[in-house]
Amino acid sequence: MPNNDQQHWNHRYLAGEFGFREPDPFVMEAHKNYLQPLLPVASAGLDLAGGAGHHAIWLAQQGWRMVLADWSESALAIAREKAAALPADNTLETVQGAALDVLTRFQEQERRFGFVLVSFFLDRAVLPLLPRVLAPGGLLLYRTYTVDNERLGNPRGPRNPEYLLRSQELLEVYRDMKILHYNETVANKGVAELIAQRIGS
Ligand SMILES: C[S@@+](CC[C@H](N)C(=O)[O-])C[C@H]1O[C@@H](n2cnc3c(N)ncnc32)[C@H](O)[C@@H]1O
Repeated sequence: MPNNDQQHWNHRYLAGEFGFREPDPFVMEAHKNYLQPLLPVASAGLDLAGGAGHHAIWLAQQGWRMVLADWSESALAIAREKAAALPADNTLETVQGAALDVLTRFQEQERRFGFVLVSFFLDRAVLPLLPRVLAPGGLLLYRTYTVDNERLGNPRGPRNPEYLLRSQELLEVYRDMKILHYNETVANKGVAELIAQRIGS
């Protein structure tokens, strides 16, 4: 039985409130400046809470074997329809489930990714698990709202602090990773973006 939040997201996708769109410049820039130079052989990538797949599908078109995970079946259905139009060698696997369950399962299966993307999603229980599903040298791309968002006058984004990063929070959580890029205010919005590399074996 889906819980209320999950139903809420399904309704939003069914209502067309969220749909397929162009990938964010952050993802395209990260691909050009970090993924391509540091991981020149595209392998497996994970887009966690990736919604209708606008990032995952674009990344699949760049040659990555993408896993798109989200708890909204409606979002994944939109993504599968879009992906069906891709050439057969651009693979997209969809996984339905809560982010924490999906990551726990991948960790148990010792499934590893060259990169993990998290865009506009926060569940603090998930944060420490992300490096564990990265292959050594793999990259974490994380971007979501911070507590500063309202103060900076952005009408979009959540108001509940549970879904807002604190200042420097990603740097603190990922202090054992190599930080390649970090920004906390983007285009006058309270948005933190981090690119970090898993070091060690
Ligand atoms: C704001 S949308 C972001 C979608 C996409 N990552 C993007 O950047 O456009 C948040 C997404 O997180 C999903 N979501 C929210 N809580 C989740 C959870 N606990 N587990 C898995 N997905 C979740 C929602 O279904 C929705 O697709």
